Amino acid sequence: MWELSLAIFGLFGLARSCDPLHAQAHGINLVCCSLNHSLTPSCEFSSLCQETCSCFLTITRDLDCKLELLGSANEPYKWLDHKPNSLPMICRQPNLPNPDAPYTIVIENSNESLTHSFLLGSCSKTVTSLTFQHYHKLYDSIDFGECFPRLASFQVVLLQRTKANFHGSLRNLKNLKVLSLVNVDFDFWLQPSPFINTITYIHIENSSITELPKWLSTSKSLSTVYLKGTSISSLTPVAQLPAVKSLKLSHNLIENLHRLLFVSPFLIHVDLSYNQITSFASHTFSKCIDLRVLDLTGNPIKMLPYKPFAKNIKLKWLKLSRTNITTLTPDHFYGLNALKTLSLSRMPIQSISPYSFVPLKSLRYLDMDSCNLTKIPQAVTANCHLARLNVANNMLHRSSSMPPEVMAMLSGLSQLRIEGNPLTEFPASFLLISRENFRLLRQLLHSTMTLPVWLREPCTPYYWSMHLANRTNNLKSFVNQYSEMRMLKSGLGYCKEQYDWMLEQMEVYRELEKNSGCYSLRRLRSSLSSKPVPKISKNSTNSLILSIPHDLSSPAFHIPILLLISLCANFLLLFSILMCSIMACRMEKGVDSV
Ligand SMILES: *[C@@H]1O[C@H](CO)[C@@H](O)[C@H](O)[C@H]1NC(C)=O
Ligand SMILES: *[C@@H]1O[C@H](CO)[C@@H](O)[C@H](O)[C@H]1NC(C)=O
Ligand SMILES: *[C@@H]1O[C@H](CO)[C@@H](O)[C@H](O)[C@H]1NC(C)=O
Ligand SMILES: *[C@@H]1O[C@H](CO)[C@@H](O)[C@H](O)[C@H]1NC(C)=O
Ligand SMILES: *[C@@H]1O[C@H](CO)[C@@H](O)[C@H](O)[C@H]1NC(C)=O
Ligand SMILES: *[C@@H]1O[C@H](CO)[C@@H](O)[C@H](O)[C@H]1NC(C)=O
Ligand SMILES: *[C@@H]1O[C@H](CO)[C@@H](O)[C@H](O)[C@H]1NC(C)=O
Repeated sequence: MWELSLAIFGLFGLARSCDPLHAQAHGINLVCCSLNHSLTPSCEFSSLCQETCSCFLTITRDLDCKLELLGSANEPYKWLDHKPNSLPMICRQPNLPNPDAPYTIVIENSNESLTHSFLLGSCSKTVTSLTFQHYHKLYDSIDFGECFPRLASFQVVLLQRTKANFHGSLRNLKNLKVLSLVNVDFDFWLQPSPFINTITYIHIENSSITELPKWLSTSKSLSTVYLKGTSISSLTPVAQLPAVKSLKLSHNLIENLHRLLFVSPFLIHVDLSYNQITSFASHTFSKCIDLRVLDLTGNPIKMLPYKPFAKNIKLKWLKLSRTNITTLTPDHFYGLNALKTLSLSRMPIQSISPYSFVPLKSLRYLDMDSCNLTKIPQAVTANCHLARLNVANNMLHRSSSMPPEVMAMLSGLSQLRIEGNPLTEFPASFLLISRENFRLLRQLLHSTMTLPVWLREPCTPYYWSMHLANRTNNLKSFVNQYSEMRMLKSGLGYCKEQYDWMLEQMEVYRELEKNSGCYSLRRLRSSLSSKPVPKISKNSTNSLILSIPHDLSSPAFHIPILLLISLCANFLLLFSILMCSIMACRMEKGVDSV
């Protein structure tokens, strides 16, 4: 009976009482309101009002309350809406309004002894959120669990590193959901806390903390752990969390993952970037069947284990950039059927087996920026859905760095980044890019302009000009100035012949391009395995024009050679025409004489 009437009274009380107000007094800013009990429309804090009555209290640096009751007994302090009340306020008796409404309290840079006293005076079950922007060890002595039993969010977010001891103050919290500690040097306590059953989010950033407590690993509610810039080296309690969804663990001192098994099947996002991980095992992520993003960037991993991602069939994004991995084989990516993005930039890649990327059936973006590649690897042709390929800032320096059998398969890309390569020869394989793929052509043209080949190989602008000759789009305008007239005037007539010759050479690969996609890929494979595709190598006489061997240290070397060859060719041509006409004349004469 008693309980029932209490409950009814409670409901009635909740519905009844919301005194909307905005008060600024004694260095405290206080806002209470709900949608039905709103503030005066002009009040700047109106946007804080929610469905139910709630209060927002900020303690500023101007906090000014009395520590002691002096002289005559004061009347209880009154908070007035949009009206100052300069009557003295006793810290221990703030007499806050709307005692049933949830309170969100923010402590700015206020006097610690006054704040300490004010917090003790505010002890009530309705404070749900506490945020310290300034912390003092005096607050360590408050038992927050006792004082604010309903506290759901406890945050200390500081600009400067500060020491704190939460052993007594936080241990008894029963309803904590969010714990966020930034720039706080502290350690956890050894005995389990009751909030183990309610905590959902833990964020610790820039802290001297070296380990998480073992008891944390039993939390079934914890779904996000965010550790950054700590001295934590072991992930054992984190890996054992049964229901964690997101682990953001970059910039710590996490070491070997060999003996770990992340047990939560709900893990979606794991960020382990910039730690000290040297290895992990095939089983490490084998329970994470829902994993979407795995970031291992910036770890000194030397090699991947055997089929490390076999069970991560939903993984969309894998980042291995800045690791020390040198070798890639198909079993490394086995199982990653859903992978969309693979980041391999700044990896010292020494070998990629041609079939490495075959398991990546859905790959859209492959990033191999700054890997010291001397050639676009054959492996990149295995992915039918590849749309963007980044091979910028590598060592692609010869025309053979962009093999035609690879480029033919890439002509449908929407992005191919090649800037920052020391390319000195014009790759004939550029001519394989479909003229319909305006976007890609524009990109390649613009990139070529920034590469050494634009100056080293005088035909380059004319190749582009000829290649884009019949296009109506504005692409042509970039190379308009390189007209045939100018080409002839500059003595570069031979460029035309070379261009035609290159086109002819590429014809066989164009077939591939025409049937581009996986079908042609399969055909190329089968043709490769039956008979070798004619390769353009520098020592075959045909390809002299394509790639003149030259010494990198003498940039001017190959130009006279080209000229020489062109002159010889022209001379031969003239000579043969002359011979032909002479012979023809003779034959005519012969006929005449017969
Ligand atoms: C707000 O007022 C409307 C009508 O005035 C009422 O239907 C609704 O229940 C009230 N909401 C709350 C949270 O009191
Ligand atoms: C805080 O307030 C108390 C009491 O008014 C005063 O004695 C103390 O010096 C103040 N502390 C600081 C750091 O200003
Ligand atoms: C953490 O520390 C680093 C370096 O000391 C600093 O750059 C960064 O801003 C800090 N983060 C926060 C949230 O204060
Ligand atoms: C990883 O590679 C970098 C350079 O690539 C090297 O300086 C570093 O020592 C390597 N780390 C390990 C653990 O091998
Ligand atoms: C690429 O080569 C340069 C020069 O030898 C070296 O400094 C750099 O670390 C290499 N990068 C990678 C990712 O191996
Ligand atoms: C441009 O068109 C002319 C005739 O219309 C043709 O002879 C020439 O081969 C075309 N050039 C290119 C690069 O397609
Ligand atoms: C042509 O070059 C390849 C390597 O590029 C070499 O293996 C081969 O022996 C060379 N052939 C001749 C005839 O020089």
